[in-house]
Amino acid sequence: MNVLILGGDGYLGWPTAMHLTAHGHSVAVVDNYLRRSLCREENVAPLIEVPNLHQRTALWESISGYHIPVFIGDLKKWEFVADVFRRFPPDGIIHYAEQPAAPYSMLNRQAGMLTLRNNLETTAHVIFATQQFCPNAQIVKLGTMGEYGTPNIDIEEGWLEVEHRGRQQKFLYPRQAGSLYHTTKIMDTDLLWFYVRTWGLRVTDLMQGPVYGIFTIENHGHQELYPFLNYDELFGTVLNRFIVQAVAEYPLTVYGKGGQTRGYLNIKDTLNCVRLSLEKPARKGELRIFNQFTETFSVNQLAQKVQQVARSMGFKADIASVENPRMEAEEHYYNPEHTGLMDLGLKPHYLTDEVISEMIEFANNHKEKIRSEQIYRKVRWDQNQR
Ligand SMILES: NC(=O)c1ccc[n+]([C@@H]2O[C@H](COP(=O)([O-])OP(=O)(O)OC[C@H]3O[C@@H](n4cnc5c(N)ncnc54)[C@H](O)[C@@H]3O)[C@@H](O)[C@H]2O)c1
Repeated sequence: MNVLILGGDGYLGWPTAMHLTAHGHSVAVVDNYLRRSLCREENVAPLIEVPNLHQRTALWESISGYHIPVFIGDLKKWEFVADVFRRFPPDGIIHYAEQPAAPYSMLNRQAGMLTLRNNLETTAHVIFATQQFCPNAQIVKLGTMGEYGTPNIDIEEGWLEVEHRGRQQKFLYPRQAGSLYHTTKIMDTDLLWFYVRTWGLRVTDLMQGPVYGIFTIENHGHQELYPFLNYDELFGTVLNRFIVQAVAEYPLTVYGKGGQTRGYLNIKDTLNCVRLSLEKPARKGELRIFNQFTETFSVNQLAQKVQQVARSMGFKADIASVENPRMEAEEHYYNPEHTGLMDLGLKPHYLTDEVISEMIEFANNHKEKIRSEQIYRKVRWDQNQR
């Protein structure tokens, strides 16, 4: 398949590009380096420097022989989008190109508006471009488990059969997000669902949980091909953050009571989920939704797992309950369904002690680069700051 990866410079985009070429697909990547510029503006940086897309594609080509065309530009600009779709007509589009950080979206009005505009406009352009240039292509869109929030009933995979006064209908599962970023993902899903009904698009919307890890089969032994490893409060995801905190001898920052439970997955599983979704596509006129995670943990459980492995490696790894800057339930019911991707053939990589120790070892090799002041800066979600 010809696959366009939108957001190809990102934490997930770049590993996906290598993975899909290694599985026989022809891939092009698109990005405007938004994530890099937001990190610079907010004075945060990933643990190791990541070469730009031209450098990474050249290196990957020299190692693997696969050529990946690079398009640098803003997917909010229609002329650019149309040009990309004309020059690389896709069979599949993987849409990662959004502002993906909930804490960033809650930073202040400007960050909130950027998130809202960016995420909705990129999604709308993906829809319009697909309809205009490749109506049979399939869209694989990254949503988030955060769209559902933490309801007091079981979470289904995207849809809920409702019976009301003796009649029945299937609806999108009720969604109530906890941040503006997550709310933009709900709006994306609504846009996609509208155009699936109206234009018969074929869409898979992957409700993904927080991803951890940096090692994939394709980047093995090549540090220049590793993705971003952010450990700051704005752009880092929780397990990646705990790993770096353990190495930095910074008490693991459990927010509040730490009973917040979510579904997690290894970056290797993200790549397989996205590839499986592409290779076993949604039907025309279908919005297919999968819950994309492999295990659930509370924040306390994650902190304890990291602590146990870190201590066995000689780190202090204390755990500290810190004031929760977020607005969220710290203890709640959580039972999400997640069989769809397994049915497509996903073989999960679980969070073992070995996986954690490998990451700790990597972070420890770069310990001198850790900037502890990035770790916890209390971006409070209950007020509009700055
Ligand atoms: N990483 C996770 O744990 C996680 C969990 C659930 C969902 N997701 C979703 O998966 C997707 C990828 O996440 P990620 O962690 O790789 O994020 P990321 O920020 O590393 O990647 C997104 C990429 O899209 C690019 N981009 C954003 N807006 C753009 C625009 N207007 N034009 C061109 N490029 C643009 C960014 O520069 C960035 O490189 C996002 O949609 C995110 O919401 C991620």
